Amino acid sequence: MRVLAIETSCDETAITILNIKGRKNASTVSVLGNALHSQVKLHQQYGGVFPMMAKREHARVLTSLLKEVLGEAKELRYSQLTTHNLQKEKKIQKILEREGELSDQLIKLISKIKKPKIDCIAVTNGPGLEPALWVGINFAKVLSLAWDIFVIPINHMEGHLLVALLQAHDTNIRMGTNDTNKNPSKEIYKLQKPRFPLLALLISGGHTELVLMKNWNKYKVIGETRDDAVGEAFDKVARMLGLPYPGGPSISALAEIARTNADLTQTNADKIKLPRPMLQSKDLNFSFAGLKTAVLYALKKNPKITNQTKKEFAKEFEDAAAEVLVTKTKKALLKTGARTLVIGGGVSANKYIRASFVELLKREFPKVKFLIPEQSLTTDNAVMIGLAAFLKNSKKTRRGSAIRADGNLRLG
Ligand code: KG4
Ligand code: ZN
Repeated sequence: MRVLAIETSCDETAITILNIKGRKNASTVSVLGNALHSQVKLHQQYGGVFPMMAKREHARVLTSLLKEVLGEAKELRYSQLTTHNLQKEKKIQKILEREGELSDQLIKLISKIKKPKIDCIAVTNGPGLEPALWVGINFAKVLSLAWDIFVIPINHMEGHLLVALLQAHDTNIRMGTNDTNKNPSKEIYKLQKPRFPLLALLISGGHTELVLMKNWNKYKVIGETRDDAVGEAFDKVARMLGLPYPGGPSISALAEIARTNADLTQTNADKIKLPRPMLQSKDLNFSFAGLKTAVLYALKKNPKITNQTKKEFAKEFEDAAAEVLVTKTKKALLKTGARTLVIGGGVSANKYIRASFVELLKREFPKVKFLIPEQSLTTDNAVMIGLAAFLKNSKKTRRGSAIRADGNLRLG
């Protein structure tokens, strides 16, 4: 099965073509083409993502990314003969009427290329920023209409969860290696067979949730944040410390320096201490707003912030976040008797958090299978969306016209 997958839920525009062979429990996933445009630089100057700006940027680059992936997959074939179907063209124009730059670029491209060898289109329909989701959906609808191919709407969080099942053919899980910049184009992955029940901790810029998966397509959220997501807290704390967006990588880099250069002469009384919100609560929920506010108050008390204090704040914040995530996940593992643990979402790129979970499993749950995406697949990408489309029950496939963006789409 060949899937063209599109992801535009936040600040990455991504398109991938996957070729998936075999059945659910034994398949090989080849990335035939993969193009990703990060909007980080654009949003960095404002310290966060503005939905309308993200939408415009997706619209600006989608067509050139499509051309790029089709080229990589050797599916970009120009046609001399262009057949006109007025009814289709009208429908396409209608779908794209509010998509600005995308409209002209896309209509021009599809009018001169041949239909590629693709069996279905997968597109993220939520959760995320609605204007950004809509551009991706409308783009998918147009391709579906032009090429007469089904579209499968995909939950972004399902993608973050399932992508942990991909294991690069020639490597083991890349723990802590710095392969963030690795381009997964041309990678071949094997799909790992999970043992159910599977517990997933999904940690990203918009979500922090524990999801129980009893079987394929059966999801239940058993714990979640009551306020901010952990990635959001990383981003906000970074901003308070004057570090660049996105905050996760910047905090993590400083925390690592602080850990390696730990000043052993420092007394406990000197140390910055942050709370571990909801650590002792009986449920499986989280709260990160309090942690962020604690940093704000500590900074107010200590307005002369030096590079050294920044490092200490970063380390203490990362310690607090990791401790809460590990403790709640441990609780959930005990409660559910899960046989596989998955960690996914942008924050799972964090080396210290990854290592904390490796440690927990080695020490207390040696029989639980631990799956974590390779670093290049932890943050938003389209490989995860294409994979989720393949793993979804095919009966749920549908024509694009009914698909709608849902910013608050839930799993399960
Ligand atoms: O999954 P993702 O790319 O987008 C969403 O679906 O939200 O996650 C983005 C989040 C951001 O909050 C970013 O700061 C965080 O992931 N992140 C990290 C790291 N890399 C990205 N957080 C902690 N440590 C990292 N190394
Ligand atoms: Zn994400």
